[in-house]
Amino acid sequence: MSALLSVRDLGVAFRTREGDVPAVREVSFDLARGEILGLVGESGSGKSTLLTALTRMLPPNARLDAGRLAFDGADLVKLREDGMRKLRGDRIGLIPQRPMTSLSPVTPVGRQLRWHLDGLDDGRLKELLAGVGLGAVLDRLDGYPHEFSGGQLQRLLIAVAAIGKRPDLLLADEPTTTLDATVQAQVLRLLLDLRDEIGCSMIFVSHDLGVISQVSDRIGVMYAGRLVELAPAAELFATPRHPYTRALLDAMPSRHRRGEPLRTIPGTVTGANRLAGCPFAPRCASVAERCHEENPEVRTVGESLVRCHVAEESA
Ligand SMILES: Nc1ncnc2c1ncn2[C@@H]1O[C@H](COP(=O)(O)OP(=O)(O)O)[C@@H](O)[C@H]1O
Ligand SMILES: [Mg+2]
Repeated sequence: MSALLSVRDLGVAFRTREGDVPAVREVSFDLARGEILGLVGESGSGKSTLLTALTRMLPPNARLDAGRLAFDGADLVKLREDGMRKLRGDRIGLIPQRPMTSLSPVTPVGRQLRWHLDGLDDGRLKELLAGVGLGAVLDRLDGYPHEFSGGQLQRLLIAVAAIGKRPDLLLADEPTTTLDATVQAQVLRLLLDLRDEIGCSMIFVSHDLGVISQVSDRIGVMYAGRLVELAPAAELFATPRHPYTRALLDAMPSRHRRGEPLRTIPGTVTGANRLAGCPFAPRCASVAERCHEENPEVRTVGESLVRCHVAEESA
């Protein structure tokens, strides 16, 4: 079956006073129908920019540069804005990273929910809120966003984007980061059930591999705007190929032995997207000379697609 979403050589650069900042570079992947792709990478690696580019809602100082961006046969690079708006309304749902910025502060929350979900009756609204553990706020919907906690607003947006609109593609940007552990587990369960029920595809972004591992069929690892590894979830955990993926796994608290200091990845990502060679080279434990000179092309190693010169030797 053909992919629902097909992305080839996607790039996004932001124009700033200090010059162009390449935030996403040469990203390619396909997403199958019903598939959940997890995207992981530290803050600033381009995850939110990538999702925003897929909905074509980039800010005015961004430049999109895509070899191909196809959604169910439609060319998203060429699609006119009214067509794109229709797709965003009906078929592509986005759960944004910061819930406050996508709600109006001066309108009661209940009225905003009804804007987003035309013809929503009270029974359905009740069901929607119960689905994200918000049954208790049902009689507070005439309140304004600032009267709700960040976690409650996040869950309201999840209810709208995921359950209310039943999209074919759901883009979820750190949807559970602001939630406490029990609510987080509840929301992850809900997203998985939704996929099983309506067969939607999902791109689930998080900086937390532990969360990503609970929902993903495949996992993509981003570093300095590049997709450096893409592999089936089990494969990524069993045989991580990219040194950055290995470092991320080593830094997971669940893999940490008691009494040992928590491991972190030495160095910083700052400036990495301006390097000529591999962006991870300055921090890499397996670095070779050519890593500083040439950026590696995508290669297949085992079941992984990986951008690394030394992946085989060091696996
Ligand atoms: N509106 C913007 N203008 C300029 N630079 C931006 C803008 N938005 C994001 N960036 C830069 O793009 C890079 C990727 O950011 P982002 O996509 O938010 O990463 P992530 O979601 O992985 O934390 C960062 O270097 C960030 O500073
Ligand atoms: Mg982000």
